[in-house]
Amino acid sequence: MIQGLIFDLDGVIVDTARYHYLAWKKLADELDFHFSESQNEALKGVSRMHALEILLQIGGVQASEEKKLDWAERKNVWYRQYLKTLTPNDILPGVLEFLREAKERRYKTALGSASKNARTILDQLEIIDYFDFIADGTMTQKAKPDPEVFLLAAEGILCPPKDCLVFEDALAGVQAARNAGMKVVGIGNPSVLEKADMIFPGFKNLHLADLEALCQ
Ligand code: BG6
Ligand code: MG
Repeated sequence: MIQGLIFDLDGVIVDTARYHYLAWKKLADELDFHFSESQNEALKGVSRMHALEILLQIGGVQASEEKKLDWAERKNVWYRQYLKTLTPNDILPGVLEFLREAKERRYKTALGSASKNARTILDQLEIIDYFDFIADGTMTQKAKPDPEVFLLAAEGILCPPKDCLVFEDALAGVQAARNAGMKVVGIGNPSVLEKADMIFPGFKNLHLADLEALCQ
C-alpha cells in the first residue's frame, strides 16, 4: 500500500527545467555550438556535472576538469539569476492542492531531487513545510538513473521503497525510481515517460484517490 510520496522538483513542481535549458544554452552559445530543446531532454534529471558532460559531448567539446568545473559554476550563476524571479505563482497548476491533499490524507512526503539548489527553490516557492524530508543533490554521490536519491528520501520518511510512489518528469528519474523498486507516475510528455506506471500531463485535476485506485 502506498504510504510515501516522493516528488522530483525541476519540471514536476516548478518549470525550472526551462531555466536549466536557457542557462545551458547560454554556455553552448559561448562555446559556439547549437543546443536544441529536444537535445536538452537528455540533461533532465541528471546531476549538474553529468549534464555538462552530456552537453559537451553534444557540442563535440573536450576540456580539462578545471575548465569543466568553471563552466558548471558559470552555468549555475546564470541559472540562479533565473531562480531569483521565482515566486509561489510559479508552482505548477494543481501541485499545491495535491500537496495539501497528501497532508490531509496523512501521506509521508519527501523531495527526491538531483539539484543542489532544491532548498533555495522550495524557499522561493514557500512550500518547504509540505515536505517531511528533503533528499537533494547536496546529499548524493550518484546521479539518476541511480536510485540513490530516492532510496535516501524513502529512508528519510521511514517508508519501504515498495510503498513509495515517485513523481517524475524525466527519463533518468523514471529509471531511478524503478531501480529503487518504487512505483512511478510520469508527469509530462508521454514520449519520454513510457517506462512510468502511469502518465499524467500535470497535477491539475489529479487526486490521490484516483492514484490509490490505480496502484492497487
Ligand atoms: C535536476 C534537473 O533536478 O537537477 C537537472 O532536472 C539538473 O536538469 C540537476 O542538472 C542539478 O541541478 P543543480 O540545481 O544542482 O544544478
Ligand atoms: Mg525533473
